[in-house]
Amino acid sequence: MATVKIPATGKVIENFDEAKAYLATINIGYERWDTNHNLDSETPAESILNTYADEIEELKASGGYVTADVIDVKPDTPNLDTMLNKFNKEHWHDEDEVRFIIEGDGLFHIRPQEGGPVVAIEVGKGDLLRVPAGTWHWFDLCSNRRIRAIRLFQDPGGWTPHYTGSGEDSGYMPVCFGMNFIPPQFASL
Ligand SMILES: [Fe+2]
Repeated sequence: MATVKIPATGKVIENFDEAKAYLATINIGYERWDTNHNLDSETPAESILNTYADEIEELKASGGYVTADVIDVKPDTPNLDTMLNKFNKEHWHDEDEVRFIIEGDGLFHIRPQEGGPVVAIEVGKGDLLRVPAGTWHWFDLCSNRRIRAIRLFQDPGGWTPHYTGSGEDSGYMPVCFGMNFIPPQFASL
């Protein structure tokens, strides 16, 4: 279940219907897919794509996506920081960013172009987020530095981020707020 937070006001939304409705007002698509499958870190990407084949086909039809793959990021992924630094600055791209989280967590910030406050969205297992083309946003991993997600693309060649250079991203803590991300040594506090 995603957690939606509005840093400017401190508002936190943890109810699915409320989160979905709020995100819809800034054109962000949010759904939950069934996670009641026996998937683990060792499950091959192909099996994951097969498991969610029906959902993927439905999404392809509704959003014009033509390919799907699985991205697998772990703390020991080579050049992880270099990769993350491409996405943790405010940017936009020419096609939608669609992620269904299989394992791990991530933090999106969205800065609505039509105005209104920046919205932080922490996603985890079972969350599907659709960030439309052109949306100003940035992304950070949580402290577990782990995310495995299905990605869908409209252009099989992939996309490159266009940076806004606004510096807005530096005004927000890249820290996840779910209870899962309290470092173990503080977990009992
Ligand atoms: Fe992006």
